[in-house]
Amino acid sequence: MNNADLEQSIRHCYSTWGDRYYADYYQSKTAYPPVHTDIIRDLLRQSEAKTLLDAGCGPASMLRDLDLPNLERFGFDLTPEMTAEARRVLATQNVPDSHIWEGSVLEASSFQQPGMSPPPTFDAVICFGVLPHIPAPSDLTVLTHLTDAVSSGGWVACEARNQLFALFTLNRYSADLFKTQLIQVEALRQRMQNPSEELALDQALEELDQRFRMDLPPLRKGYEQEPGYDEVLSRTHNPFELAAVARQAGLVEVQCLFYHYHALPPILEPLLPQAFRRESIAMENPTDWRGHFMASAFIVVGKRP
Ligand SMILES: C[S@@+](CC[C@H](N)C(=O)[O-])C[C@H]1O[C@@H](n2cnc3c(N)ncnc32)[C@H](O)[C@@H]1O
Repeated sequence: MNNADLEQSIRHCYSTWGDRYYADYYQSKTAYPPVHTDIIRDLLRQSEAKTLLDAGCGPASMLRDLDLPNLERFGFDLTPEMTAEARRVLATQNVPDSHIWEGSVLEASSFQQPGMSPPPTFDAVICFGVLPHIPAPSDLTVLTHLTDAVSSGGWVACEARNQLFALFTLNRYSADLFKTQLIQVEALRQRMQNPSEELALDQALEELDQRFRMDLPPLRKGYEQEPGYDEVLSRTHNPFELAAVARQAGLVEVQCLFYHYHALPPILEPLLPQAFRRESIAMENPTDWRGHFMASAFIVVGKRP
């Protein structure tokens, strides 16, 4: 799929989420609390940032909760239904409509507020929930655009779904991580020396699948006719690799901050839902090494020199 077709499928996927996304993922009692917004709020306070750009801002889900004194907020998003909702919500906080525009993180020009000449840079740029929808060869492009959008001394925070969490989930994602990233099945198959080795490898891989709940998690479908989250490109990232890409993009002091911890593998949550949620929240610590495996998301954070 080329980038234009991919972006069309993503826009379609999110087209029905504009007015329900914040209620479903930030306010609902069943949703995990938005601990990532707290991490960003702390970074904004510590750095005393005066301007913030949210690339892929959705319905201003984070921007509306980052209503800090002396912080000017800006955002853009690929999906018109998202930008319309972001403008509507932020207007109630006196943020001008012109601070929200449509654009793609794949285009350098999207990082400039339309009509501003020369384009300003920002003290901080955040990007949450977008990288899963970016094809792998463009990760560096996106990290470079984020870096170019901040002023010298400013910082970038880019969220990704944690690929290594699959080592803890014991489900379909685990089987995929084992086979594609760790074992690297296709390359291993090429090195089998005769048909009986090849057959034995196939049997071993079938047995491997039996170690995991291959029926979980359920596929997320769309609300109406549109494709669901698991029916469009929705990648995970290896924190070690993404930190390397961030450095390649020119960021320094790069670190990964982990969030959305799971006190037990999520397939066990139905056995003790309340304790599971309570203990998971109690684990939240962005710099705990266990986050590499027990947190489903991370933020790669770095400074522009
Ligand atoms: C999971 S939502 C996250 C929204 C918001 N950042 C948050 O964290 O609550 C992902 C958002 O990324 C947007 N998006 C996806 N691909 C994008 C791209 N290439 N450029 C800009 N936004 C994009 C979608 O339209 C959607 O609003």
